[in-house]
Amino acid sequence: MTDHPQKELEQERAVDPRESSRHEALVAVEPSGAYAATREEGQITRAPDGRPMDAQPRWRTDFAIDTPVDNYLARRDFAKFVVLTSGAFVAGQGFIAVQSLLRRNRRPPGRTRIASLSELEPGTATTFTYPSEDDPCLLLRTVDGQLLAYSQKCTHLSCAVVPQMEQGVLHCPCHEGYFDLLTGANIAGPPPRPLPRIVLEIDGDEVFAIAVDERMI
Ligand code: FES
Repeated sequence: MTDHPQKELEQERAVDPRESSRHEALVAVEPSGAYAATREEGQITRAPDGRPMDAQPRWRTDFAIDTPVDNYLARRDFAKFVVLTSGAFVAGQGFIAVQSLLRRNRRPPGRTRIASLSELEPGTATTFTYPSEDDPCLLLRTVDGQLLAYSQKCTHLSCAVVPQMEQGVLHCPCHEGYFDLLTGANIAGPPPRPLPRIVLEIDGDEVFAIAVDERMI
């Protein structure tokens, strides 16, 4: 006790935090779930059979009944889509990387005889396959005697290109693509890159294919 009346009043009003009833008032204990998201009455999930959602079969979780669950499923499906497409993109990149590694390590196709020089009249063309039986190619002898060879597969969608010696072009009839006869460069239409050039070697009267020059531009 103190003899000062003001101090006496303050001591009486002082709260002891160890007393539980007063302690709760001090720390403002809130009822559980007070800050949980609230739903409108119309948004509360009620399964058709009336049982609570945690007693429902698993398949029902994929067929939303109310709007918030539907939004959740839409977000989940979107996330799934993003993960799957990203995965496919990464797998595709990996496949391309492996392919180019294999291509780089592939042995050179070797030397293959393709024609006799004396049989090739100036201004004519003949076909052959190189480096494998499935790779059609064209051997061209220009009017001035120059020897040229290209893959016959159009770089657009692999149709066979046709030489037009007088016009100085190789024509792809599928989508009207054109390549320059002297360089194999794509000059018109949809083909995105030049024709692969076949490297030739002349040995006496024999013409050999010795390599494929894949050109990107
Ligand atoms: Fe040659 Fe389309 S396949 S232009």
